[in-house]
Amino acid sequence: GHENIGHENIRVETRGRVGLITLNRPKVLNALNKSTMDELVAAATAFDADPGVGAVVITGSAKAFAAGADIKEMASQSYMDMYAADWFRHWEDLTRLRIPLVAAVSGYALGGGCELAMMCDLVIAADSARFGQPEISLGVLPGMGGTQRLTRAVGKALAMDMILTGRQIDAEEALRAGLVSRVVAAERLLDEALEAAGTIAEKSKPVAMLAKEAVSTAFETGVTHGVQIERRLFHSAFATEDQKEGMAAFVEKRKPEFRHR
Ligand code: CAA
Repeated sequence: GHENIGHENIRVETRGRVGLITLNRPKVLNALNKSTMDELVAAATAFDADPGVGAVVITGSAKAFAAGADIKEMASQSYMDMYAADWFRHWEDLTRLRIPLVAAVSGYALGGGCELAMMCDLVIAADSARFGQPEISLGVLPGMGGTQRLTRAVGKALAMDMILTGRQIDAEEALRAGLVSRVVAAERLLDEALEAAGTIAEKSKPVAMLAKEAVSTAFETGVTHGVQIERRLFHSAFATEDQKEGMAAFVEKRKPEFRHR
């Protein structure tokens, strides 16, 4: 099971084949301290390994997805503290997971909150969502991947604008810029994200993981090499029973019954 045992800062549950992780530090707008991120990474890693779960939704509260890394936890740290701990390194483990991750963002997604959303594979925003990288106003810069993932998501001009001025963008601007794939009314957010994750979880899990790996490769490599990797991943789908079933079902004009869901 994926019960809440051992979790102080998040809630963990399953909805059918979807794993749901809810950040739960309302008093500090879900500021991401070390124990919260450790719990989040552990819960998502457990879902990744569970054949009964095909996709994960990560969400926050109506007011805040997450207002950033925990400033109070970092404020008095020295360079050596940060360097010795390799602060934020462990959180990057989230991006090593193969299971598709859906961020459902309502309210503030600032600093590490925006960066957490960008570590996910789909970002669905409520119309109330606000994205920003305000680190510059704290005398630092993004440290959980923002300078890289934001730039790749929205391009240099808007990334520089947000990271150098700290300007926040709303859900509509995030949609236009390609930071999110859907904007929905705030009260629809969780249902929309659970439905999207549920749709993914209906497919073959190993094949969804191959597809995620292929798209993720676009962030790491040039097109020629990336297309070659895609082709190899495509070939490897033919090692699954689900490819046989999916194509047979199409030919026989019926719904596929994926085995490795
Ligand atoms: N870390 C720690 N505590 C935080 C926090 C954060 N990132 N964001 C909010 N809080 C706390 C506040 O200190 C406050 O606590 P107290 O009641 O004890 O004072 C509580 O949450 C509520 O916040 P506010 O009273 O400020 O709420 P508001 O509605 O007036 O403002 C806000 C909301 C605009 C989001 C504001 O809280 C804010 O600016 N937060 C900080 C945003 C930020 O700078 N994030 C970047 C953090 S650095 C980072 O993320 C580095 C990285 O790259 C990973």
